[in-house]
Amino acid sequence: MAKIGIFVGSSGGVTLGVGEMLEELFDDAELINMEDDFEGLDQFEHFDVLLIGSSTWGQGDPQRDWVDPLYEMQNETPDLGGKKVAFFGAGDQKTHGEHFVSALKKMEDIFKECGASVGFGAISKEGYDYEFSLAEKEGKLCGLAIDAINQADLTEERVANWAEQLKSEMGL
Ligand SMILES: Cc1cc2nc3c(=O)[nH]c(=O)nc-3n(C[C@H](O)[C@H](O)[C@H](O)COP(=O)(O)O)c2cc1C
Repeated sequence: MAKIGIFVGSSGGVTLGVGEMLEELFDDAELINMEDDFEGLDQFEHFDVLLIGSSTWGQGDPQRDWVDPLYEMQNETPDLGGKKVAFFGAGDQKTHGEHFVSALKKMEDIFKECGASVGFGAISKEGYDYEFSLAEKEGKLCGLAIDAINQADLTEERVANWAEQLKSEMGL
């Protein structure tokens, strides 16, 4: 059975909550809170599948607990060949609609650069209403976008659907 690592950077707990829901929805999953539990890039080695979670801040940037690990990844390019990776995170499409969940794409680029297999878990942008997102390509967002500020009532369904999608796409 594939071992799944759910790595989450979350300042206010929204993306962490999504990570906890995902942990429940997969059989062999472990949640790693980047703030307390992250031990270094070697930790990715323990898993076959990585679900990478981060809220978006600043000018479309990943949450602060991801800043150092992503910087190290860019410098050290650890070999993530063979790992299936998908991205999720919270944002705010109204107040920060000029960079809605852009962090997902910034992280995808870095994981891809390290040889990870990305492209899983893209979702339709339908049902969202924002100005711009780096994460958007050809009508899709490159991962699961959650907006607990404007669309909290959709979160549970979005997470459940995404988990089913990943199980199918990744053969889990
Ligand atoms: C100063 C500030 C900057 C933000 N920048 C963005 C942004 O660029 N894009 C976006 O989608 N959301 C942005 N947000 C919204 C947060 O991502 C959102 O509140 C999210 O739910 C936080 O999730 P977390 O609790 O997992 O950290 C910003 C929020 C604040 C307060």
